[in-house]
Amino acid sequence: MGKFIVANWKMNPASPREAKLLALALKKTASKLTKTRTIICPPALYLSLLIPPRPTKKIFWGGQDACAGVNEAETGAISAKMIKNIGADYLIVGHSERRRAGETDKVVREKVQLAVKAGLKPIICIGEEKRDAHGDYLSFLRGQIGACLGDLKKSYYSEIMIAYEPIWAIGTEAHGADTPDNFLHNALFIRKVFAGLAGNELALALPVLYGGSVNVKNAEGFLKDGRADGLLVGRESLVPDQFKQILQIADKIK
Ligand code: PGA
Repeated sequence: MGKFIVANWKMNPASPREAKLLALALKKTASKLTKTRTIICPPALYLSLLIPPRPTKKIFWGGQDACAGVNEAETGAISAKMIKNIGADYLIVGHSERRRAGETDKVVREKVQLAVKAGLKPIICIGEEKRDAHGDYLSFLRGQIGACLGDLKKSYYSEIMIAYEPIWAIGTEAHGADTPDNFLHNALFIRKVFAGLAGNELALALPVLYGGSVNVKNAEGFLKDGRADGLLVGRESLVPDQFKQILQIADKIK
């Protein structure tokens, strides 16, 4: 199965013109890949501008967040349904930058359900703030998975992707990326916990992505040695030359 490479543009770029140029640069490379699926997640404001009228097989679009409320009186909010109706297929849910702004596991769980109901595939971000030598962070991950994904309708579990993003590895303040070895270990653990909720078959099929300071130098390690099903890329997704190389690296992996 091909890899999933997710571009999380966060609050970038500042103008629609730059957004179009960035998308154009990525699309050229992404459309030539044979196996890899590129999922571009721009600010919701640009989705309608960037999504082509006819869907393509290799490039998909996603939102970065959606509102947990179903009440239509939610000033400033955007619903999963709106994101789906504009032509997107994916939704990042529970990113640590949203959690830092107060989003709880309970809210993440609601968003996951609304996303699936709307027909979007949620990319659920989990990850510990600190890595401890005793492995306590694994209990934290177990808790996060249980609270965000416990007791969902059985059919929902096949729509889900998990992005393991240790918080200490994300963004400009990061200590650097995790290692492929650690990722491999943690992804197995995540799959095991997921199996407890969704059963073995779905747990084997669950895409587990790595995110946090992904770049051209470390992408291959995570995809090959870490056996990541994909990558969630922040900063480097804004630099076309770098992101294109990451896409090409992913496409070469057997
Ligand atoms: P980064 O961000 O690649 O800039 O570390 C990853 C993310 O926040 O998803």
